[in-house]
Amino acid sequence: MNVIVVANYDEMSERAAAFVAAEIGHRPDLRIGLPTGNTPSGMYERLVGMHRRGEVDFSQISTFNLDEYWGIEFAHPAAFARYIGDRFLAHVNVPEEQAHWPDGIGQAEQNAAAYEVLLSKGGPLGLLILGIGVNGHIGFNEPGTNFASRTGLVPLAERTRQDAFHPRSGFDSAEDVPTHGITMGIGTMMESRRILLLASGQSKAQAIKKALAGSVTEDVPASVLQRHPDVTVIVDEAAAALLDAD
Ligand code: F6R
Repeated sequence: MNVIVVANYDEMSERAAAFVAAEIGHRPDLRIGLPTGNTPSGMYERLVGMHRRGEVDFSQISTFNLDEYWGIEFAHPAAFARYIGDRFLAHVNVPEEQAHWPDGIGQAEQNAAAYEVLLSKGGPLGLLILGIGVNGHIGFNEPGTNFASRTGLVPLAERTRQDAFHPRSGFDSAEDVPTHGITMGIGTMMESRRILLLASGQSKAQAIKKALAGSVTEDVPASVLQRHPDVTVIVDEAAAALLDAD
């Protein structure tokens, strides 16, 4: 694992955007897995800026969102597909047919199977970008998820549901946060050629320590990344604070 510790959130976002742009520079038709949440929003903002300045061309890439709340329509203010649409896709030149997400409405098994087909059709993802939950989750794969899991419908941990409700979340109340999500599986994610994990802030320090330096266990989903041959972690000092501590 290549662990890059930077000063703060802005620097993490800057380095992450530069990393993604460089990957696209090497491979213009890169297939990329995209996370939502607070962590990557600065990265998306910078990628949009780079695109406006003509520094990066997204016309050949394909995007694959990591996950979606189950039972939420695309138009819902909390929908992950809408997040990626509003923060990134609406401002860059990814052709519509090259942007993909797991559908949060309909028949879960069919949606998941259809997403797996889309994911595998063009070969493994060239780059998978991940955030990490305070409980070590990646995508919506909560502690206890089998490392071999494929895309599917999963229950959300209570902590994940609590964290999902805040004034700008798009949910009217904590009870409105869905109890399930549809997510790329851990087995699915591990097939990606390269993985970029981002984390910022003190609240992630424990999860980062367990994921990077703890034992590889299904109790900490992100610890599976220790088994992947090509992972870069960009983490700020607050999230890295416990890495060298015993
Ligand atoms: C979101 C996702 C989640 C988040 C994680 C961290 O698509 O896959 O695993 O990356 O919950 O969320 P933030 O960045 O909001 O702390």
